[in-house]
Amino acid sequence: MTLRILISDPLSDEGLHALHQDDRIEVTVSTELSVDELLHCIGEYDALLVRSQTQVTKEVLRQASKLKVIGRAGVGVDNIDLDAATEHGVLVVNAPDGNTNSAAEHTMAMLMALARKIPQAYAALKEHRWDRKSFVGVELKNKTLGIVGLGRIGAEVAERAKGQKMNVIAYDPYLTEEKAEKMGIQYGCLEDVLGAGDFITVHTPLLKETKHLINHKAFSQMKDGVQIVNCARGGIIDEEALYEAILSGKVAGAALDVFEEEPVQNYKLLELPEVIATPHLGASTVEAQENVAIDVCRDVLQILTGGLAKNPVNFPSVPAEVMKRIEPYFHLSEKIGAFISRLTDEAVEEVCIYYSGELADLDTAPLTRNTVKGLLRRYMGEHVNDVNAHFLAQKKGIVIIEHKSSSTKGFTNLLTVEIKTKSGARKVAGTLLSGLGARIVKVDDYSVDVKPSGHLILIQHKDQPGAIGRVGSLLANFDINIATMQVGRLDVGGSAIMMLTIDRQAEGHVVDELRRLTDIFAVIAIDL
Ligand code: NAD
Ligand code: MLT
Repeated sequence: MTLRILISDPLSDEGLHALHQDDRIEVTVSTELSVDELLHCIGEYDALLVRSQTQVTKEVLRQASKLKVIGRAGVGVDNIDLDAATEHGVLVVNAPDGNTNSAAEHTMAMLMALARKIPQAYAALKEHRWDRKSFVGVELKNKTLGIVGLGRIGAEVAERAKGQKMNVIAYDPYLTEEKAEKMGIQYGCLEDVLGAGDFITVHTPLLKETKHLINHKAFSQMKDGVQIVNCARGGIIDEEALYEAILSGKVAGAALDVFEEEPVQNYKLLELPEVIATPHLGASTVEAQENVAIDVCRDVLQILTGGLAKNPVNFPSVPAEVMKRIEPYFHLSEKIGAFISRLTDEAVEEVCIYYSGELADLDTAPLTRNTVKGLLRRYMGEHVNDVNAHFLAQKKGIVIIEHKSSSTKGFTNLLTVEIKTKSGARKVAGTLLSGLGARIVKVDDYSVDVKPSGHLILIQHKDQPGAIGRVGSLLANFDINIATMQVGRLDVGGSAIMMLTIDRQAEGHVVDELRRLTDIFAVIAIDL
């Protein structure tokens, strides 16, 4: 089957190389699509690769019926509706490391250009004006740089600023005094940083909490004559507030690489002589573009071909060594989820998953997701996947609880799933037998030993002579061959179950006939 990838923003050819090499992949590069064109064609693709230009909105995701993964060649994912991607089961991966150096270097270039008014002087000279008076700058040495957001890029900027003999003070919710001390910088709260900086540079993502973080109030807390740098995201700084702060003389200059609206439509701020700017060039180096394209293409290829992503954004990443240990249980967990979903027609309110024996030592979160996926697929089909299983369960109000116990109950590993509904609970347990694979070993309180695959029939009946024979004869009348049969009972003459594996699916009318047999209480056909 051919896997189709749409590349809707320009990406380095170096990254695309791996995609072109793979004959399962068909790549379409279309970097000038209008919103309507994207909405129209996205349904044909398994993967979408973007930078920051393409807006991957709810509407785009609604049309993206085949889409499995969105690759963002860069860090910021604010152009992708992550909640909608998760809801639609689309994994988002990014390339967070490849452009850190370029963005940090660009920030320093902007800082220096701002301090020395290089762009303004250059523009004058290009207009044949030899003006040495208007462009007197300030030194960086011994000035204080306030950094808001000390992640990958913020930390690199701090290092470089120290190289310029600047004092650095930073605020980041994850920064501690000890860490700051180790980095040779000062630690402060947001107000401290705003109040101390001769220059202030922001390096946070654009989130609800950081939108207009630098607003009227923030400017009022800054030193008079402060200079501002934003090479992170438009919208972290309130552009209207910045405009007013420049006009009032509070802010002496600003260097902007990113804008609230891109491409810029309103040039009011950019027309101020105190503002220098680049059109979102922070990551625009040959090296960064190669790095991010290679990283993101590798992750997209991995996902499309059943592997693991290194940089998932809307999905917890599972370290390779953990994955290796839990992988053998994937089949078992999904099959138990699918099996137990058939045992009730009522709405499931709670799912309790018990991990016993050696399973209790593992990071079982991926198995829980897989079990829930198996469970929800009965009513929601293939649309449910690892990315959206929890989200969809939550939306349905299903509570998911994990329990762990080292007690083995006679098995080296045991995965027990219990579902609770208004009128009761059902339970199924399974194990992984060395060399034999997955087995269902308990249904409610009955012990069985059944491979969770193929066509199964679960029959609850009275433990009476003849019950098994009647079932066998009826299936024979419909020309259905029984491959395996297990019988479990609690008491002699009491309630019992039969678990049959049959060679072909039992249609509805066969199940109805089985239900009509004497001493049969319930019949459920389960196709796994
Ligand atoms: P990162 O995730 O490594 O760092 C972001 C930091 O911001 C984190 O340490 C986080 O704790 C901190 N933070 C979050 N909310 C905060 C708040 N309210 N106050 C203070 N700190 C807060 O990200 P990064 O790779 O360093 O990227 C930083 C920014 O730069 C992002 O917005 C990214 O999109 C942008 N970026 C821009 C370009 C460009 O071309 N201009 C290139 C690369 C990255
Ligand atoms: C990023 O978030 O990585 C940058 O904005 C780079 C980009 O996409 O140009």
